[in-house]
Amino acid sequence: MESLLRTPKIALLIILALLSLAVASCTPNANAEIISPDLGEKLAAAEAGSEVVIQPTPEPKRLADLSPEEITAGLPPAIADALANADPSHGAELALQYGCVGCHSLDPAQQMTGPTWHNIGDTAIERVPDMSPALYLYESIVDPNSFVVPGYPANIMPQNYGETLSEQEIADLIAYMLEQHGQP
Ligand code: HEC
Repeated sequence: MESLLRTPKIALLIILALLSLAVASCTPNANAEIISPDLGEKLAAAEAGSEVVIQPTPEPKRLADLSPEEITAGLPPAIADALANADPSHGAELALQYGCVGCHSLDPAQQMTGPTWHNIGDTAIERVPDMSPALYLYESIVDPNSFVVPGYPANIMPQNYGETLSEQEIADLIAYMLEQHGQP
């Protein structure tokens, strides 16, 4: 044995064999259910022969599916009243007048400082869970940092629109943005 080990080639072979054993013991077990606890349960149910129900990914909600109450839920009463009589085309003029369009574009291909208003009426439903789209838009105008859209910087949007705009102007802007829905 000693004389064998003295032969460099054989010693090298032994080291290689030990190394490959060490590497083999580190490879993960392909049969282990490590992917997701939920999938593990489903696999176990499938193996036991019971029915496995896989829920489809839910379709995002659309403004057209909501009732007027669902669209405006949670708005301060004065804004809700103003929204009931709002003029979306005046909202479009206000977006020009107050410089919103300097940071927001209806064209999703146009890179601006702020997120696009393309389909914003539908987007507003999903931004904050359990917040109605009109309330979300209202909060985005009067308190922009309450929710910062992922991928965009905070503190860029002017923080004082709640003071400089009248309630009716805010409502007109919300009505204009809510009109941007059902857009592919
Ligand atoms: C100087 C640039 C700038 C101006 C001017 C500006 N915004 Fe914004 N706005 C942003 C940025 C940046 C964000 C994303 C970060 C955040 O959520 O605060 C944003 C977010 C928003 C959102 C949320 C959008 C979404 O996809 O969820 C709304 C609604 C909005 N702005 C409305 C307005 C309105 C209405 C005006 C004009 C009265 C306006 N903004 C003016 C920069 C601006």
